[in-house]
Amino acid sequence: MSQELFPVPAEWATRARMNEDRRMADHKRSLEDADSYWLEQAARLNWMSPPSKASESSFDEADFGISWFADGTLNVSVNCLDRHLADHGDSVAIIWEPDDPAETPRRLTYRQLHHAVCRFANVLKDAGARKGDRVTLYLPMIPEAAIALLACARIGAIHSVVFGGFSPEALAGRITDCDSTILVTADEGRRGGKRVPLKANVDAALAMDHCTSIHRVIVVQATGGAIDMQPGRDIWYHDVMAGVVSDCPPEPMNACDPLFLLYTSGSTGKPKGVVHGSGGYLLWASLTHELCFDYRPGDVYWCAADIGWVTGHSYIVYGPLANGATTLMYEGLPSWPTPSRIWQVVDRHQVHTLFTAPTVLRALMKEGDDFVTATDRSSLRLLGSVGEPINPEAWRWYHAIAGEGRCPIIDTWWQTETGAAMIAPMPGATALKPGSATFPLPGVEPQIVDGEGVVQQGPCEGNLVIARSWPGQMQTVWNDHDRFFQTYFSTFPGTYTTGDGARRDADGYYWITGRVDDVINVSGHRMGTAEVESALVLHAKVAEAAVVGFPHDIKGQGIYAYVTLNMGEEPSDSLRRALVQWVRAEIGPIATPDVIQFAPGLPKTRSGKIMRRILRKIAEGDVSAQALGDISTLADPTVVKELVRTRAIVP
Ligand code: WT7
Repeated sequence: MSQELFPVPAEWATRARMNEDRRMADHKRSLEDADSYWLEQAARLNWMSPPSKASESSFDEADFGISWFADGTLNVSVNCLDRHLADHGDSVAIIWEPDDPAETPRRLTYRQLHHAVCRFANVLKDAGARKGDRVTLYLPMIPEAAIALLACARIGAIHSVVFGGFSPEALAGRITDCDSTILVTADEGRRGGKRVPLKANVDAALAMDHCTSIHRVIVVQATGGAIDMQPGRDIWYHDVMAGVVSDCPPEPMNACDPLFLLYTSGSTGKPKGVVHGSGGYLLWASLTHELCFDYRPGDVYWCAADIGWVTGHSYIVYGPLANGATTLMYEGLPSWPTPSRIWQVVDRHQVHTLFTAPTVLRALMKEGDDFVTATDRSSLRLLGSVGEPINPEAWRWYHAIAGEGRCPIIDTWWQTETGAAMIAPMPGATALKPGSATFPLPGVEPQIVDGEGVVQQGPCEGNLVIARSWPGQMQTVWNDHDRFFQTYFSTFPGTYTTGDGARRDADGYYWITGRVDDVINVSGHRMGTAEVESALVLHAKVAEAAVVGFPHDIKGQGIYAYVTLNMGEEPSDSLRRALVQWVRAEIGPIATPDVIQFAPGLPKTRSGKIMRRILRKIAEGDVSAQALGDISTLADPTVVKELVRTRAIVP
């Protein structure tokens, strides 16, 4: 745990809205006088009918429910677009940087974006979309992705974005779970000079027997690549956009009406549809965007995430646009065609704030500093980090090399479930410690509890829980309210269980130590080990599989799979390769196993439970008797010896 302290830079001390005293007073008031604090904060949004109530949430089983601003009415797209038109309709809302640096960037002003969103909202209506209907978006990082999100918001349709890197199988599952009727996609995506066959994947997904709810596919022409269009089902975006008017009255939405759902992995079962509401979510995205990045007119703000993840929802689209910001959207990869690319984009668009993930930083660090120092970067004032714990080495490199020592590092801890940042520094208020996400944002009451749920005081380490609701909290799991309660509120009753471990030091700084459940974090992407296991056992030659994470230099965690083959099947390198391909096809490239170890048997208790603790240790390469611990409770202790022996022959 690093105890170096980086004070607020002088430039930020004068410029920022928040200083340390105000931050602390604000946090105190947000907890002690919560109702009036939040009703006051609600005024940052534009309401059709303002709320008179803040939170009516309860974490207790008897009256369980999440409710924020329950009697308020608003429209999210009005907050992100219409209300900016009078004052700065001609300022740039979205700068789009293409994958290929030789191509021309696009710029959309707030007025142009408003125009496109209203038209596409009318297209969706013509396709039959009504308030509450689900629309699945499977798109590359192009402005039409933001247009589609906001068009859904305008008419009250619930969007469900599926990351463009997911397989047809994964896409079909996410369509079927929420019964979406309309799908918006593109002919192809582009990343790092390669084409992603989005429409072909859609065709494959919709050909699956269980995937029958979609009746309309709207296709954006992004690359002009050859694709099949199915008459009666598929229509071109540019055709239908030409045939609608650009006036679309916004649908009045209750603050608690769902804005979107987004599938995320848990420790068990299929990915769940995390449901976010309208008023509380937007308030949280907008407030945290302001507190963490202190955006000012004229700044160019770049969150280098993908719209397929919650980071893209909250910090490329909703937060910055609600705040009238200029948000940069990048189609490609940080290090293509050169490891300088990310910094070249910074220079090209004079980026003020860059928000990216530790895995990106670690990959860039490896390429050497020359790729960074060859660029100017003098426009940078703020650097953000998100997605996984940032190791102090990467933190220092980001700070010293990329930011030349002048930019605070805003390490934001949060989750798909939390809507937006929860524990994070503020640039004008917080002295930083490399690797610590620092302090809770207003309204956030973190606690650290031991295995029995006893709240720890002072410096300590344990399970991170949140003791009360906050405006961005997810409202339910799509179609499974019971699973929502069981997953997050039953382990440590009366609190929201994050699934993360954390440490609090003597100065009150929080240090996230990583997941304490069977979720792993691969390059900032969250994966349930159970999902990879289910994919593996679908293969005809596989009898059983157990998947664990192991430390990986670049990805943070890698995927280590133990595979037991069916009787009569022989382990081989070609089968290993085939299984890797199989998982990629079942889930997507982000689930590619790094290591497959063929295991004659798995360590199980007598009741048949796989002892993952042992598998994690073997995957880490720590096979000492001390590390493996007590194995006498295993049904067959010799299994462990065999796993240790065969580990040596894993390539
Ligand atoms: C999990 C949530 C946050 C939005 C993108 C990922 C880990 C995320 C941090 C951070 C340490 C972090 C946690 C969390 N995580 N940010 N700054 N420091 N860990 O959202 O896919 O829902 O994943 O990512 O383990 O539980 P997600």
